[in-house]
Amino acid sequence: MQHVNPFYTTNNIPSRYFCDRAQETETLVRSVTNGNNMVLMSPRRMGKTGLINHVFTDKRIGKEYNCCFIDIYDTSSLQEFTFRLGQEVFRRQSAGGIRKGARFLEVLKSIRGEFSYDPATLGPKFALSLGQIQQPLRTLEEILQFMESSSKPWLVAIDEFQQIGKYDEKNMEALLRTRFQRLANVTFIYSGSERHLLGQMFSSAARPFYMSTGTLELKPIDRDKYVEFARRQFRNAGKSITKDAVEGLYDLMEGYTFFMQKTLNEVFASTEKGGDAGQIEVFAAMEYLLDTADTTYRNILAGLSKGQRTVLSTIAVDGHAENILSQSYISRHYLGAASSVQAAVRSLLAKQLISRDADTYFLDDKYLELWIRRCYGISLEESWVERWQD
Ligand SMILES: Nc1ncnc2c1ncn2[C@@H]1O[C@H](COP(=O)(O)OP(=O)(O)OP(=O)(O)O)[C@@H](O)[C@H]1O
Ligand SMILES: [Mg+2]
Repeated sequence: MQHVNPFYTTNNIPSRYFCDRAQETETLVRSVTNGNNMVLMSPRRMGKTGLINHVFTDKRIGKEYNCCFIDIYDTSSLQEFTFRLGQEVFRRQSAGGIRKGARFLEVLKSIRGEFSYDPATLGPKFALSLGQIQQPLRTLEEILQFMESSSKPWLVAIDEFQQIGKYDEKNMEALLRTRFQRLANVTFIYSGSERHLLGQMFSSAARPFYMSTGTLELKPIDRDKYVEFARRQFRNAGKSITKDAVEGLYDLMEGYTFFMQKTLNEVFASTEKGGDAGQIEVFAAMEYLLDTADTTYRNILAGLSKGQRTVLSTIAVDGHAENILSQSYISRHYLGAASSVQAAVRSLLAKQLISRDADTYFLDDKYLELWIRRCYGISLEESWVERWQD
């Protein structure tokens, strides 16, 4: 058997390496099977995409629904949205055979003739270029109509959904809402990490998607459950890790799944069979990961203006910076003019280096946070002690 590291840092995690999320999976499965759309929100790297993939493989979903997943983070127009959805629906259809794929293409009358056939498989190929979608709205309606008339219902997860608010078309929300709400055979999961944008979209009475969905806010995995999960993975491989070490790591990373997984993946790899890992080994793994990221992080900081660097470092050292735009915060941290702090915060948000929850700002990348802290003389050990809640 091929050796696998049980700590996955990519998606599509085999279920035995997937930690908990039992309740969240139930919530999503129940809403989907009852035809209710859902919004799935969490800070970055908490596990939204992983959870969606997990739900897709649930036996009540995977066999019963045509599942498709599109990430629209890097799209900026209805044309691109339509292209991405079309591509994914086609992929899903073709998985059921060439004829199924071909049937989908036939329905897309607005771009008929624009498809080519793959000489290798003799099957249809979704080979159109974006520019060929000349009437995106019409094409979108054809795609939705196709899904609506399928014998199997569809489940469509749209990741980074808040992006539609930034599209060239200003009426995207209303435009999608009117089309989506007519569908009886298609259920949606809208997910994203920009809480303030997504929140406004679904909970502001003035917005088209208001009250159209239930909401699931993905919190960190329960601490005890994660500790148990991590220790079990070591045990199953004939290794061990202390409870303190995993608990300390959980607190240091504030339960952010990705950063715990990334660290334990490294600890696991460097612990030999029969070996025991503790805090020392976790520190060694973190130091190693910080060192390997050194160039990347230096380049990130080098690409920022002085003002942005100062604000980013202040937030990193602070951990959770509250009311950063208030006069008292600004003068306490010698940040200079309020207007330039505001501009720096705005561009750091846009670069996705920081996130915001109400009036609190924090770094998205826990390792970058620890790296900056280390540059300011705050050692890993100090950060660990500061956050450990034994
Ligand atoms: N339940 C879980 N058990 C084990 N590992 C997990 C679990 N959920 C997520 N992960 C791991 O954590 C990492 C981050 O998860 P994921 O990509 O799903 O987060 P996300 O919220 O979609 O992040 P982003 O906002 O950056 O897209 C993944 O690489 C995955 O390997
Ligand atoms: Mg994701």
